[in-house]
Amino acid sequence: MTPLLPSRVAQLLPTRRATVGLAKLLARELVVGDLVLLSGPLGSGKTFVSRAICRALGVPREIPVRSPTFGLVHELAARVPILHADLYRLGGCDEVEQLGLRDRRADALMLVEWGDAYAAELGGSALRVALEWTAQGRLARITADDSARPGLHALAARLHGDSC
Ligand SMILES: Nc1ncnc2c1ncn2[C@@H]1O[C@H](COP(=O)(O)OP(=O)(O)O)[C@@H](O)[C@H]1O
Ligand SMILES: [Mg+2]
Repeated sequence: MTPLLPSRVAQLLPTRRATVGLAKLLARELVVGDLVLLSGPLGSGKTFVSRAICRALGVPREIPVRSPTFGLVHELAARVPILHADLYRLGGCDEVEQLGLRDRRADALMLVEWGDAYAAELGGSALRVALEWTAQGRLARITADDSARPGLHALAARLHGDSC
């Protein structure tokens, strides 16, 4: 059996087109039940990546995909049902628990902005997309949790192959 080593990847995203390209690669692998945790400072591209994943999965252009900061959770119909959440305004684990997202894991692909600290409350086994600024521009670090399914580890490893 292939050991599930922690998969880590850093991709430079010099242009929006590059970010869309990364999102398309992610979308190709993601399925119902997967949890994607998007982290990084305001404006780093969490919603941009979420939107590009949604578009790649067939959410039509006329349906806006915005940061659900106020509604907290948006439901989108695509080739797979998608729940897009933004936990920025939540006060802690209890409030995340109360959203009941863990119970909905089996029914949707979950894209969660600012959810990094709440992996357990969201059911764990996440693919993490951490966006940051560097002198060269935006950078995405992609990590599959140890407990994530093998396909997500393979995805991170594959991306590792064609990046820095
Ligand atoms: N390479 C890039 N990748 C992602 N977004 C980019 C890039 N270059 C410019 N942008 C812009 O940066 C902004 C990112 O905003 P957003 O996705 O809302 O950030 P966040 O959700 O992390 O607060 C968007 O306006 C997007 O058009
Ligand atoms: Mg956002």
